[in-house]
Amino acid sequence: MDTQWGSDFFGTLNELPPEPVAGVSSVLEAAASFPAFKEARQWVLSNLGVSEGSSILEGGCGNGVALAELLELVGASGKIVGIDPTKPFIEAARGRARQLDAPNARYDLGDLRQLPYPDKEFDAAFCDKVLIHAGPAAAALGELARVTKPRSRIGVIDWMPFFVLSATRPVLAEAFNTIFRKAVYDYNVSANLARHLHSVGLSGVRVKGFLAHTDNLDAHPFWRAFIVQQAPMFVHAGLIDESTSHELLSDLERLNAKGEFSASFIVQAAVGTR
Ligand SMILES: C[S@@+](CC[C@H](N)C(=O)[O-])C[C@H]1O[C@@H](n2cnc3c(N)ncnc32)[C@H](O)[C@@H]1O
Repeated sequence: MDTQWGSDFFGTLNELPPEPVAGVSSVLEAAASFPAFKEARQWVLSNLGVSEGSSILEGGCGNGVALAELLELVGASGKIVGIDPTKPFIEAARGRARQLDAPNARYDLGDLRQLPYPDKEFDAAFCDKVLIHAGPAAAALGELARVTKPRSRIGVIDWMPFFVLSATRPVLAEAFNTIFRKAVYDYNVSANLARHLHSVGLSGVRVKGFLAHTDNLDAHPFWRAFIVQQAPMFVHAGLIDESTSHELLSDLERLNAKGEFSASFIVQAAVGTR
């Protein structure tokens, strides 16, 4: 088993200028309300066995998009802790906690694979779209298990960034999908959630899949944010050449205008008991 720590560009955001980080932050905001991601998160949260007054940890919390739902779950008497290594995200999450008047929500800078919390501190823990970017999964999940109480539940959400994407020339869709196969840390993590949860000793693991699908590029802001807005960043990172990217985006716009665009991918979620 791979025990070497690693991450993709999501582990290097502190070294980037503010503009691309703000761009990524806006994609996270769009993803938060995107049906497949939202349904997966709500399924996990509703299966964590927590209620009013519980304590919950989110590893890799980003800018804290889950806060409103976590507050609904544990209330003002509960405790919410998020941890993430990206400074501007943690600052944004703290701002969100102030805005939502949630003094019981705390956001810490840190690494999911080495949590600065004592053993058996929380009633539940989860991570959402993190293991695809940083791992190995067993190091991260092992820490979530360590800091939760015996019989607590641990949840994971991740996705396979393979888009079943309309394109007049299939090579364009393949070039788009190649970006993520090259760029992400653990491309296959979402397909192996039960194995990863078992590897840290969890039992009673359940896995559920959620289909993300559209036949309109403007059906939800996530589609344009992810496919169109991020295109210059993918070109800049050398993940797709400029002319292919330009041709792909023009093709998608043309198909969309004619009602011939469609895109799908799969999100997976899992919950296990410590
Ligand atoms: C795709 S974002 C998801 C953020 C958030 N969970 C959400 O759903 O919006 C991935 C997050 O993983 C964080 N990350 C990267 N390396 C990490 C690590 N070693 N430990 C914890 N989080 C990490 C990034 O800073 C980023 O916030």
